[in-house]
Amino acid sequence: MPYRHNPVYLFYLRKVKKLHLPILQECIFLCGGFEIKEEIWIEKYRPFKLDDVVGQKETVERLKSYIKTRNLPHLLFSGPPGVGKTATSVSIARELFGDSWRENFTELNASDERGIDVVRTKIKNFAKTTPIGGADFKIIFLDEADALTSDAQSALRRTMERYTNNCRFILSCNYSSKIIEPIQSRCAVYRFRPLSDEAVAGRVRFVAQNEGLDIADDGVDAITYVAQGDMRKAINALQAAALIEDTIHKDAIYKITATARPEQVRDLIEAALGGSFSAARKHLDSLLLEQGLSGEDVVGQIYRSIFDLDIPEKRMVELIDVIGEIDFRLTEGANERIQLESLLAHFVLSGKESK
Ligand SMILES: Nc1ncnc2c1ncn2[C@@H]1O[C@H](COP(=O)(O)OP(=O)(O)OP(=O)(O)O)[C@@H](O)[C@H]1O
Ligand SMILES: [Mg+2]
Repeated sequence: MPYRHNPVYLFYLRKVKKLHLPILQECIFLCGGFEIKEEIWIEKYRPFKLDDVVGQKETVERLKSYIKTRNLPHLLFSGPPGVGKTATSVSIARELFGDSWRENFTELNASDERGIDVVRTKIKNFAKTTPIGGADFKIIFLDEADALTSDAQSALRRTMERYTNNCRFILSCNYSSKIIEPIQSRCAVYRFRPLSDEAVAGRVRFVAQNEGLDIADDGVDAITYVAQGDMRKAINALQAAALIEDTIHKDAIYKITATARPEQVRDLIEAALGGSFSAARKHLDSLLLEQGLSGEDVVGQIYRSIFDLDIPEKRMVELIDVIGEIDFRLTEGANERIQLESLLAHFVLSGKESK
């Protein structure tokens, strides 16, 4: 079956966060229908030991002490996507239980099963059974715990207490504020940060080397820019680029991830602040129409570029205020084009006022 028609691959593309599906498919189409030979790199390079988890040094060090004492409290991992929460949980289980880790570790995705029933049935049933292979306890890993309804969370707190003897919970979430207070107080809370550019770059080079890929320095920089601390995004971008280029340069990365080059965004801002609305509008057209960026992407990139501008703090603050407003309106579903032009208009006016 041609690569681009492989349903598993298409499913993967959809799951690949933030990668621009139409563009990726187009690239693969251009390459012709070659067969899928490789596995998905985010899985191939999933860390299996705590030492393989990069960029979360403090957290990892503290977690290692639990492994040493072979005692684990309930844990709550919170942080943005793709920074190693699931990878760390699996590594803990592997290090604690060795070969019998699969029998003593279960993973439930709370967003598939958000209701109270899952706590009453699946979780309780697993928690009740005794650990296998001489382990002191089992681990229930509850991914996306912030998607559990508050009823389900309330039911969970009782379960957590009742089965503490032979079961520990690791909850993972993107927003700890969505986890009810009583559960937070039963857990040791670990906050995972977005990974540093160095950590992402290091891992990307490691994967590239293992796969025998050539990647230029500007390719690595582009990946760290696009990933914004999300290792999943970084590795996916690398794998997608490897499909279309022998030596990976920044252009391929920006193209497949539908990201504007930082210089393009800077040109747009400079045109607007320089007072030329029509020039800025042309840059905007090129981003939206030619490169297929969404309005939110453009606002997000303008926000990131603004800190590099050499303007007085007061003006910067005013501009950030407007960006915040436009970003909010876009998420509420306002007309993208009008909002972006309104943003440019503010920039133009701000530029004129300062003259
Ligand atoms: N700190 C890290 N060190 C090494 N690889 C990482 C790290 N973080 C993420 N990865 C890579 O990204 C993939 C996804 O990471 P993981 O599933 O742990 O993310 P997560 O934090 O659980 O994200 P989500 O909130 O979306 O569930 C891993 O399989 C691994 O390849
Ligand atoms: Mg996860």
